[in-house]
Amino acid sequence: MKLFRRRRVEPLADGRAPEVERNGRRRPSLRRLLSALLLVGALAVLTRPGKQVARVVARWIDGRVERFSEPESGTYARVLAPVLGRLYRRVADEAAAELAARGLIRRPTIVDLGCGPGDLVVAISRRIRDARIIGLDLSPSMLLWAGRHATTDGRLKFVVGDAADLPFGDASVDLVVSTLSLHHWAEPADVFAEIARVLRTGGVALVYDLDLLTLGSSQMAEVAREAGLEPGDITRERVGGGLITRLFVRFRLEGLAEE
Ligand SMILES: C[S@@+](CC[C@H](N)C(=O)[O-])C[C@H]1O[C@@H](n2cnc3c(N)ncnc32)[C@H](O)[C@@H]1O
Repeated sequence: MKLFRRRRVEPLADGRAPEVERNGRRRPSLRRLLSALLLVGALAVLTRPGKQVARVVARWIDGRVERFSEPESGTYARVLAPVLGRLYRRVADEAAAELAARGLIRRPTIVDLGCGPGDLVVAISRRIRDARIIGLDLSPSMLLWAGRHATTDGRLKFVVGDAADLPFGDASVDLVVSTLSLHHWAEPADVFAEIARVLRTGGVALVYDLDLLTLGSSQMAEVAREAGLEPGDITRERVGGGLITRLFVRFRLEGLAEE
C-alpha cells in the first residue's frame, strides 16, 4: 500500500486549495503534462511490452499534477474533461443499468467522489432524470467549476469534502461513482471503508481509474482487509470499449450495510 500512499492534501483554513509548487520548481503546464499522460496511456495499450515503462512515466507525470487549484482546475475543466465525454457517458449508462438491475429506479441517491468539474454528474443526470446526485471533491477550486451545474432544487449538488470522511449517513446512498480520482486518494482503504458504510444494501460502488496509475490486482485483498472488508469484496475489472475507455479499470463494491 505504501506505493500509493500520498500525503493528504487538506484545504487551507480560508477554503483555498494548497499551493501546487513542488520543491520550489515551477511545474510544466498542465495541458502538456495531461496530453503526455494520454499519449503514454495510448502507447501502453498499443504496445503491451512497453506497459511497465509507460507505467513509470505515467506515475511521474501524474505526480506533478496531483493537486488541483487554479489554474490547473480551470485547465482540467476546459481541456481534459471535454476529452473524456465518452467515458462519462459510458459510466452513466453502466450506472443506469446497475440501478435498474437492482430495482433502485425511484429517485436514487448517487454520490460522485472526486467529482472535479462535475462532467460525470451532468452525464448521469441526463441518463437518470430523477436521480439526486451529489458531487464531492477535496478541491474548492474544482468545485467552483462544478458549481455551474448545481440546480436550485437541490437535485444536483456539489460539496467540499474528503472521500475518506464522507458527510453522509450510514446506508444512505444507492450508488457511489468515481472517475480518475482513486489514484489521488491518500488512503484508498479508508475511502473504501467509507463507501461500504454509506452504501445501502443492494447498492453498488463503481470506481473507475486509469489502469496505469491505480491499484493493481495484487493489492486488492490488502486494501479490502484494511477497509475492514473481506478479501474478495472489492473486485477489479477491465473496462474495454474504445481507445480511451480501454485505459481504465473499474473497482466494484456491493452495498452490504445494515438498513
Ligand atoms: C483527475 S481529477 C478527476 C475529476 C473528475 N472525477 C473527472 O473524471 O474529470 C481528480 C479529482 O479528485 C479529487 N480528489 C483527490 N483526492 C480526494 C479525496 N480524498 N476526496 C475527494 N476528492 C479528492 C481532486 O481534488 C480532483 O478534483
